[in-house]
Amino acid sequence: MNITYNDEQRRIKVPAAAKKLLREALQAVAELHALPDNTEVDITIVDDKAIHQINKEYRQVDRPTDVLSFAFDESADEEPEIHDNPEAHLLGNIIISAETARRQGQEYGHGFNRELAYLAVHGCLHLLGYDHMQPKEKAVMRAEEEKALQKIQLSQQDLAAAAVDAKTVKKLVRLAKKARENAYTPYSKFKVGAAVLTHSGTTFTGCNVENSSYGLTCCAERNAIFNAVGAGAQDLYCLCVLAETKEPVAPCGACRQVMSEFGVEWVIMANTAGATKIVPLADLLPYGFTKQALKKVR
Ligand code: THU
Repeated sequence: MNITYNDEQRRIKVPAAAKKLLREALQAVAELHALPDNTEVDITIVDDKAIHQINKEYRQVDRPTDVLSFAFDESADEEPEIHDNPEAHLLGNIIISAETARRQGQEYGHGFNRELAYLAVHGCLHLLGYDHMQPKEKAVMRAEEEKALQKIQLSQQDLAAAAVDAKTVKKLVRLAKKARENAYTPYSKFKVGAAVLTHSGTTFTGCNVENSSYGLTCCAERNAIFNAVGAGAQDLYCLCVLAETKEPVAPCGACRQVMSEFGVEWVIMANTAGATKIVPLADLLPYGFTKQALKKVR
C-alpha cells in the first residue's frame, strides 16, 4: 500500500517511531485484506481545532473527534485516479487529531504511538466499508482492528526503543545528571536528578530537595514535573530519573502517581555509570488512580 503522510499541526511532535508504527499498521490492514500494491491512502495529522471544523462542515457534528475518513468517491467527476495509470488507486483520506490521540492514548493507558496506529487502522477499515453503527458490524470491525494490531505487535523492548530514540535518551540522561548536581541532601546524602520531556519537545529538570523536617522532602522527579507545570507545560511524554545506584534507579510510588497525572508515557531509569532502562509508566503503575475515577456515576 502506498501511504502519503502529511502533518499539518504543530502542537504535538509526532515521533518518527509513531509514524513508522502507523505505516506498519496500515500495511497490516492492506495485507489482511489482500489489497493490491497500488492502493493509496492519504493520512493527514491535524489538531483539535482543525478536526472540529471538518467534523462540523462535513458531518454537522460541532466538536472535535479522533479520526475522520473520507472514501474516495469513484462516481465523482474530479477523479484523482487515472485509469490508464495503474500506479495509484486512491482509497481515500484519513484525518487524525494528534491532540485527541494523545489524550486517548493516555486515558486508555497504551500511549500516543499506539493510539495513532489504532486510529489509522480504524479509519482505513471505514474506507474499506466497515462500520460500527450496529452491534454486529461493530464486533466485526473490532475484530479486524485487533487482527491488524496483533500483526504489528512488537516486543516491549522494540516498542521502548522506537518510542524514545537514542538521541533523546542521551539528552535526558545528560540533563538529569546535571540537575542532580544541585540536589540538597544533607540528611540522606542520596542525590537524585530528573529531566522531563514534553510532547512538543521542551525539557525541564529537577533535583531532590530535603528538609530537617524529613517528611517535607520532595523527590527530583516531582520537582522536575512541577517545574514543567509551573512553566505552563502539562503534556509530558518521557521522564528520566538518575542516581548513583548499582542498577538504574526506579522512581518512588508517589512520583509514579504524579507522572501519571501529567501523561508521562515512558520512564528512563538511569544511573551515574551510564546504564539505562526504558519502561512504560503503565508497567510501573498498573491500575493507577486517575481523574477518570472522579467522574460522577450519575
Ligand atoms: N528520592 C528521589 O528524589 N526520588 C525517588 O524516586 C526516590 C527518593 C530522594 C528523596 C530523598 O531526598 C532521597 O532520595 C532518599 O530517599
